[in-house]
Amino acid sequence: MFDFKGKVVMVTGANGGIGTATTEAFLKQGARVVCCDFTYPPVDDPVSAVLSANPAKLHVDVTKKAQVASAVQAIVKALGKLDVVVNGAGILRSKFFTEITEEEWDVMLDINLRGQFFVCQEGLKVMMEQKSGCFVNIASFSGEAGGIMAAVDYSASKAGVICLTKCLAKTGAAYGVRANSVAPGGVDTKMLDVYKATWGEEHVAEVSHMNPMGRWGRPEEVASGIVFLASDEASFITGACLDINGGLLMNP
Ligand SMILES: NC(=O)c1ccc[n+]([C@@H]2O[C@H](COP(=O)([O-])OP(=O)(O)OC[C@H]3O[C@@H](n4cnc5c(N)ncnc54)[C@H](O)[C@@H]3O)[C@@H](O)[C@H]2O)c1
Repeated sequence: MFDFKGKVVMVTGANGGIGTATTEAFLKQGARVVCCDFTYPPVDDPVSAVLSANPAKLHVDVTKKAQVASAVQAIVKALGKLDVVVNGAGILRSKFFTEITEEEWDVMLDINLRGQFFVCQEGLKVMMEQKSGCFVNIASFSGEAGGIMAAVDYSASKAGVICLTKCLAKTGAAYGVRANSVAPGGVDTKMLDVYKATWGEEHVAEVSHMNPMGRWGRPEEVASGIVFLASDEASFITGACLDINGGLLMNP
């Protein structure tokens, strides 16, 4: 449906549910995909790793700016450019407002917001020079409406992602660079295990019925929104936050 032949796509959080579905969706459209996640083992030669596989896999902890920078450099050295960045690395917490510790707050913001910022910064440097490119940052319904089961640290980090993306869109526009976010409602990935461990499987299943569609989303349903926003068909869309939530929140 979309043409990504010859396009180079970097996905963070690629080893997760939405990251895996997003990688598959871009591969189907002909893209060259570099998957980044801190669960992948480090490689001796990242440039060769990027050149020799599609999808390639790089160990990247998004909270480490140097690791992010070296992954971006390896991609550009190997493939000559960076067309699309999908910022998906993230963690979730489900904890009562007054019980979140200082350390927990810092860890959450470090991964979900500061990490996305590093990836945007390093990606933007390349895209400004090549005068093209786009970002799709994964935010959340809870970053717009406040979480139902998601804790304040997670929800606030995702509100930050939405604003980070708007700032990036304003900065990038003069350089031919677009930036958008997606705000999924609950999606059936291993991230929901956090809810199940806190609230029990039965309650989590009940909450899915609060959604007008009566179910959790599927990772592929988020991936298709991401691919659309990254495509040339979305060439006049920037700074937007696309709701992918089955009707749970309908913005005016
Ligand atoms: N599943 C949902 O209900 C839901 C809803 C809204 C938004 N999201 C967002 O979508 C994104 C993907 O979530 P998912 O549902 O696929 O969850 P997931 O847990 O399956 O995937 C998250 C991935 O991020 C990686 N990761 C975590 N910290 C990292 C770090 N410091 N550096 C690099 N990688 C790191 C994990 O290893 C994992 O592979 C996240 O940003 C999440 O907040 C998920």
